[in-house]
Amino acid sequence: MSEVNRYHNIYERQRLIIEEKISKVLDDKKPDSLYGPGSYILQSGGKRLRPLLVLLSAKASGGKLSQVYNAALAVELLHNFTLVHDDIMDNADKRRGRLTIHKKYDVNTAILTGDSLLSIAYELLLKDCKQNTNLVLSSFNNSLIEVCEGQSLDKDFELRQEISIDEYYLMINKKTAALLSMCCNIGALLTGASKQVVNALSAFGQNIGMAFQIQDDMLDIIGGESFGKKIGGDLVEGKKTYLFIKALEKAKGDDQKKLRKMIKEKGIKPEEIDEYKKIYEKLGILDDARNEIKGFTKKALSKLNKLDKVEDRNTFIWLADSLIKRSK
Ligand code: IPE
Ligand code: IPE
Ligand code: MG
Ligand code: MG
Ligand code: MG
Repeated sequence: MSEVNRYHNIYERQRLIIEEKISKVLDDKKPDSLYGPGSYILQSGGKRLRPLLVLLSAKASGGKLSQVYNAALAVELLHNFTLVHDDIMDNADKRRGRLTIHKKYDVNTAILTGDSLLSIAYELLLKDCKQNTNLVLSSFNNSLIEVCEGQSLDKDFELRQEISIDEYYLMINKKTAALLSMCCNIGALLTGASKQVVNALSAFGQNIGMAFQIQDDMLDIIGGESFGKKIGGDLVEGKKTYLFIKALEKAKGDDQKKLRKMIKEKGIKPEEIDEYKKIYEKLGILDDARNEIKGFTKKALSKLNKLDKVEDRNTFIWLADSLIKRSK
């Protein structure tokens, strides 16, 4: 078996274990009006990247996976909570190839489903807190504060004219990278890793998170059916994505006018998506994004020399590589 297949199999095995455990989290809970939609989002697939980061970080810290499965579920519930509320804020109709909760049910149901996932996440996390409990809880909680701040900036930026790339980086660091970093952080803390390893893994997660969000921005334009979200949604909503900011930096003449029109009208019509895609292609923005993703990924991997085992480093290298190649 090739090395790549071996790592892929490790991922698949853990993913299935997470699927199995997640399908039981809301079992027997009532009322159905609340937990039906909760199960609907929790069992709609998803890559389960965040639980995987918890598990791999625990292992790289010399711990056992069995010490952190509840924490792994907790971060996935936290993530799903942010998605349900994010889809309301972004007017998104589709997630993981299905209707979003506020579309399938209604907005109130989506708000409450999110709230319940968040509170159950804390309960799950507590089950695995046998050491470093204060640090773990504060890490988990702080990442959520950051997500809220990042999401707030994301919405603010829709209404602002010029957003610098540094402002964008601050925003995605909060809305996305903070959570991925926390997953690595608590996986290490819960298994009693040294400070050095805790910090190295957290920095890995943070940089992978930056790459991850730029790629998510890119897939919004070039993603296929497997992406599971509506293509061009960011443009329709008037989002200041990496692609848009970079394009505005480079565009001249009519292209620039067109981009400014999105700002002025706070979004575009679905029929216009293709025109914007062509502008991005013409200006080489997709290559810029790919380079930036590579840069953050390289930086993430450079943090791993603090890990003792080659095997652990290689697992993270495989993960980083498959994230770059992902289509969903
Ligand atoms: C989507 O996260 C939200 C972002 C931070 C871009 P994922 O792409 O990890 O979503 P799922 O869980 O795999 O569906
Ligand atoms: C992801 O931003 C941030 C968070 C949820 C919390 P997006 O709005 O780009 O995520 P998708 O593309 O809808 O998954
Ligand atoms: Mg959003
Ligand atoms: Mg969104
Ligand atoms: Mg997105």
